[in-house]
Amino acid sequence: MNILVTGCAGFIGSNFVYYYLRKHSERKIIGLDNLTYAGNIDNLSGLTEEERKRFTFVKGDICDPELVERIFNEQDIDGVINFAAESHVDRSIHDPQIFLKTNVLGTQVLLDAAKKHWRSGNDWKCIDVTKDESEKSRSNSDNLPSRKPAEFLQISTDEVYGALGPTGYFTEKMPLDPHSPYSASKASADLIVKAYYDTYGLPVNITRCSNNYGPYQFPEKLIPLMINNALNHKPLPVYGDGRQIRDWLYVEDHCRAIDLVFEDGKSGEIYNIGGHNERENIYIVERIIEILRKKTGDSEINESLIKHVTDRLGHDKRYGIDPTKITQELGWKPKFMFDEGIEITIDWYLSNKEWMQSVISGEYLDFYNKNYKI
Ligand code: NAD
Ligand code: TYD
Repeated sequence: MNILVTGCAGFIGSNFVYYYLRKHSERKIIGLDNLTYAGNIDNLSGLTEEERKRFTFVKGDICDPELVERIFNEQDIDGVINFAAESHVDRSIHDPQIFLKTNVLGTQVLLDAAKKHWRSGNDWKCIDVTKDESEKSRSNSDNLPSRKPAEFLQISTDEVYGALGPTGYFTEKMPLDPHSPYSASKASADLIVKAYYDTYGLPVNITRCSNNYGPYQFPEKLIPLMINNALNHKPLPVYGDGRQIRDWLYVEDHCRAIDLVFEDGKSGEIYNIGGHNERENIYIVERIIEILRKKTGDSEINESLIKHVTDRLGHDKRYGIDPTKITQELGWKPKFMFDEGIEITIDWYLSNKEWMQSVISGEYLDFYNKNYKI
């Protein structure tokens, strides 16, 4: 089975490549990523030799129909998991256009290629899944269906639902009500994905996950930014009063959910992913300070670093996911609660200070040039 994983060099995409190649010992990934500021192929340097044999990297743009067509022609793609996106809300407020291009048009280019290559007459491509031993052990049965449809999985976000008041949760049935150019572009992509299901019958799923955290997250997002600034005794910029709420999920839990939806999700369905770990931003920042001070013994890492700055435009007040559907239909539950996940995450950043330095300075491009460029 050959899976096209776009955005494989980004935060969640790279975590997913490790997860997937380790979980499915007989499958291959073709990774497509154009290595924007947020994409770092060095994120995948921890793949073993055996895993590297099952991973092919293509540097390129999902918006390039000829390249995507070539990949489908040459690699016999059985599934697409589309992580590739511009993903930072603040950047989308300053420069929305690239968000529309990558997140909407890029998704449509991938859908078109999947439609063209997977459909013959009224039938959609099916894949033989009997050979995968790890699959047998997962479901504890030898009677797995031998064939499953090829699958297009769109990785979306809870931000497409807009913002919640103090109570209630996002369910899959809620109307889309995005506020930022980022979330509006992701909502648009979701609608295009659904249109390919409704119109052509392309087998698709959409997942909408809450805020992720963990290794390899670019230090523009709240958690790695605060870790990096605190370690360097730089101000910790908290937008407005810091009372906005996000629902945090450790990235490995997200990867496990994506794998489950990709395998067993009902075609055409949307699945919310989140683990009821809602926290105010200010709590997150204070907790990072406390843990870092304890782990480093550095007394200069303290609350005096916190600086309340002008609030983000159109800042969504609260996100909170209702994960009932994925739990009941696919048996997914998070393994990591926030208190454990944040400790693991901080330990990772403390052990990988060179990684932080290299992504901030852009040095990671050297790794690409040495190891991948032909
Ligand atoms: P990221 O910004 O870390 O990574 C995005 C990756 O996509 C990068 O490697 C980048 O180089 C690549 N990319 C960007 N434009 C591309 C293009 N035109 N062609 C090919 N590759 C391109 O983002 P992330 O946090 O890993 O998010 C991955 C996906 O998950 C996104 O679709 C995002 O909307 C979604 N998501 C993220 C979160 C979160 O908390 N980070 C939560 C829910 C959903
Ligand atoms: P972020 O990590 O950018 O994710 P998103 O906007 O997709 O939820 O931000 C998480 C929350 O933290 C959000 O409410 C904005 C806030 N925030 C700050 O207060 N200061 C910062 O420097 C950043 C990057 C975010």
